[in-house]
Amino acid sequence: MERPNTIVPERTDRPLSKIVSHAMLVHAVVALIELGAIEELSGHPRRLGEVARTLDVPEERLLILVRAALAAGLIDEPSPGFFSLSPAGAHLRTDHPQGLRDLFRMCTHGDFFQAWTHLGHSVRSGRTAFAIHTGQELFDYLGERQDTATVFNQAMNSSALAAPLLREIDLAGAETVVDLGGGEGATIAALLRACPSTRGVLFDLPHVVQGAPSLLREAGVQDRCAVVGGDFFEGVPRGADVYLMARVVQNWADREAALILRKVREAMSSSSRLLIVGHLPERERPSEFLEAMSLSMFVLYGAPLRSRQDHEGLFASVGLSLHDVHRVPDGESIMDVRPVPMF
Ligand SMILES: C[S@@+](CC[C@H](N)C(=O)[O-])C[C@H]1O[C@@H](n2cnc3c(N)ncnc32)[C@H](O)[C@@H]1O
Repeated sequence: MERPNTIVPERTDRPLSKIVSHAMLVHAVVALIELGAIEELSGHPRRLGEVARTLDVPEERLLILVRAALAAGLIDEPSPGFFSLSPAGAHLRTDHPQGLRDLFRMCTHGDFFQAWTHLGHSVRSGRTAFAIHTGQELFDYLGERQDTATVFNQAMNSSALAAPLLREIDLAGAETVVDLGGGEGATIAALLRACPSTRGVLFDLPHVVQGAPSLLREAGVQDRCAVVGGDFFEGVPRGADVYLMARVVQNWADREAALILRKVREAMSSSSRLLIVGHLPERERPSEFLEAMSLSMFVLYGAPLRSRQDHEGLFASVGLSLHDVHRVPDGESIMDVRPVPMF
């Protein structure tokens, strides 16, 4: 299939066309991942016919997907007929250091994806869309389905947020860091590697931390990290210098979030810090990405994202106060939270 010219995409700024096309392009990306095309296009530019032969798919049908991904900015065609991933598309590679492939895979996987079809019903009834779809809240559901839990945990591990934490927060003086809801330990492992004199505690539900020892061993930090299976509604390890909750508080509606934070407050000493990592939308200036993330939290957990002001109200109700915010406009921010004395 020789073509004389490169494909020059025409992009639209019309909001409805954008929404409709994104809803469809998502499936093109899923198909490119499933067929193995993302990996095949991850190196130097290649002729599509050669890629199609390697993947054992007809070239003209692979081109349908490639054109869509090219129009979306995920694939480049540097010379006519030669294709490779663009810098944005490279985030879908399995070996990309800030890879989004597993998170993308989770968002487009089975019940995670189908739960969205219940959004209207959820708004009307107040029930979580995921629970309407599956009959269970997400963490109960994951506790019973190892295969889906693996998809979820991999998505968390590969998108863990240690780098911005280390960049923004000085952990040098911290003797102990407790990572609450730390999943299989990807974040605490990276923090301990960067802070050789710090000891860690990974705390999550018992069936989740089962996956931790191998990850901690591979990171070479197993001797400095205790693994505790527990339920943060019942209590958390006491007296650490730093408590970390990455992408955890935003999984819970106000009532439950306050119950968890009260347990954390009880465990903190007067000099402990609590670092809360999560998306932080601005009330007056909604960003498309953060509002989409807020919808996602609402669909999966029944809890839309909180603004800084919402957090301040929540903290005040449990004897905590917001000390500092490291805001990342379209990413995940870090809130540095301290206990209010004499609460
Ligand atoms: C969205 S994940 C975030 C994982 C990790 N902190 C990260 O940033 O990749 C939320 C975590 O909270 C944990 N979790 C949910 N309910 C919990 C509970 N009652 N007690 C302890 N951990 C819980 C989940 O198992 C899950 O690992």
